[in-house]
Amino acid sequence: MSKATNVVWHEHEIGKAERAEQKKQKPCVLWFTGLSGSGKSTVAGALDQALYAKGHHVYLLDGDNVRHGLNKDLGFSDDDRVENIRRIGEVAKLFADSGLIVTTAFISPFRADRDLVRELMTDGEFIEVHVDADLAICESRDPKGLYKKARAGEIPFFTGIDSPYEAPEKPELVINTGTHSVEECVEQLLAYLQSKGFVAG
Ligand code: ADX
Repeated sequence: MSKATNVVWHEHEIGKAERAEQKKQKPCVLWFTGLSGSGKSTVAGALDQALYAKGHHVYLLDGDNVRHGLNKDLGFSDDDRVENIRRIGEVAKLFADSGLIVTTAFISPFRADRDLVRELMTDGEFIEVHVDADLAICESRDPKGLYKKARAGEIPFFTGIDSPYEAPEKPELVINTGTHSVEECVEQLLAYLQSKGFVAG
């Protein structure tokens, strides 16, 4: 629901097609979702690097980083997580509109919120990537020591412990960081992007 009235969309001369053409790529949003410690940021970052090295124009929106700025007013209640993903969905849409290949790394635990972002995007441009690693694996990695704190009751509503994670039902891609290396996951993602014509083979 919009609060503002009397606002009219202005169609500008230079649109998404022109911006994408200038960059010689097809914009899209690779939406990485998964538990904390599943490897979202690592794999998204490695893919970002691989695409950049090939001369593509890319941008990575990372959960922890965005929560330092745009979303620093949000916590981890269900409502705040919904708003977190809504804002990132809109930002990702703007970035795709500017012709970029966007990667996002947010837990984004709720299916309905991810589906709302999918609906925002042009058909085929939203690529949901489930970073599928068991809770036990994520917890044993515990890169930031947060699972330990959550188990000790020091972080309320921690995803996978006392806040739910709803796995995607029909993601475009599933990558398993428990059984595959980061390099293998990047290969899998690049192969997908090539097969769909987002980047050249
Ligand atoms: S989301 O659920 O709203 O999508 P987001 O990806 O932005 O989460 O942020 C998750 C990151 O915040 C985690 O990787 C972790 O570092 C940190 N964090 C702090 N508190 C929590 C919590 N209660 N649950 C999950 N992650 C948390």
